Amino acid sequence: MSAPVTSAKTAGLLGIENLDRTEIEEILERARFFQPLPNETYRRLEVLKGKTVVNLFFEASTRTRVSFEIAARRLGAETITIAAQGSSVSKGESLVDTLNTLAAMRPHAIVMRHAASGAPMFLARHLHIPIVNAGDGLHEHPTQALLDARTILDHRPSLSGLRVAIIGDIAHSRVARSNVHLLSKFGADIVLCGPPSLLPRELANLAPGVSLAFRMKEAIQGADVIMMLRVQLERQHEAPMSAGEYFRFYGLRLEHLALAKPDVIVMHPGPINRGRELSSEVADSQRSVILNQVENGVAVRMAVLERILS
Ligand code: NCD
Repeated sequence: MSAPVTSAKTAGLLGIENLDRTEIEEILERARFFQPLPNETYRRLEVLKGKTVVNLFFEASTRTRVSFEIAARRLGAETITIAAQGSSVSKGESLVDTLNTLAAMRPHAIVMRHAASGAPMFLARHLHIPIVNAGDGLHEHPTQALLDARTILDHRPSLSGLRVAIIGDIAHSRVARSNVHLLSKFGADIVLCGPPSLLPRELANLAPGVSLAFRMKEAIQGADVIMMLRVQLERQHEAPMSAGEYFRFYGLRLEHLALAKPDVIVMHPGPINRGRELSSEVADSQRSVILNQVENGVAVRMAVLERILS
């Protein structure tokens, strides 16, 4: 699905697909400014003083929700977070009615996560409030791809020419789709790998530079970046493989890392399942940047909110 033309500057942030390289570079550069130095705390600014950001989460989330909240507050904004379980949505109110009610309270931006692909685009067409997509169904998760790019660029001078293996439940992953769009715009080679049932062939056509691999070893060979994905059990209807069986064929173990570049980095958007997608030795190894990703989430979301609201 392609989102309506949008710009992070004016209309919010609905996806990576319709951003251009310059917009992405500007956000990543500004995020660098917000990254704390070692032994430093985050910068606190007042640029969004007087602004209200509503975080509306219709799906479970820990790091994304908290990270948006912290980012908004560190810029001086007020935040209100609504989880669908505790709201009128659970009393049967429609999405449009919920959003019209919130819009009547005149927030300056809405950050939204929803299980339906396209839900934030639908709202953006109806409301005159910038919408930030915090993950919509199988479609996009733009701030995750931006924080992933920020993390890769903390370890590599450029994205161009990098070999990035994205491994796991590609079929149900909005993280994979947003990353493919972003990495492809910068000329990376992207290998998507997973069990045949979780690796739709048409994804090879999603963007230039994408290839498919069904075996881990093939995907990891020479990789600069290995991005592991969670098996999205909540989005699957067929009986999934057992954790042990999945780990045997698609779990990342220390011995795999020897096939990659010596300074390979291992990423995962979280939440991680040790013993399914990756071993504890890998998750806790020197090569893992999983916690750096979480940390960069705040800096990137500060850059996005500032751009949209100030
Ligand atoms: C991802 C998501 O929600 O799409 N998580 C996240 O935002 N950190 C990936 C996942 O849930 O597996």
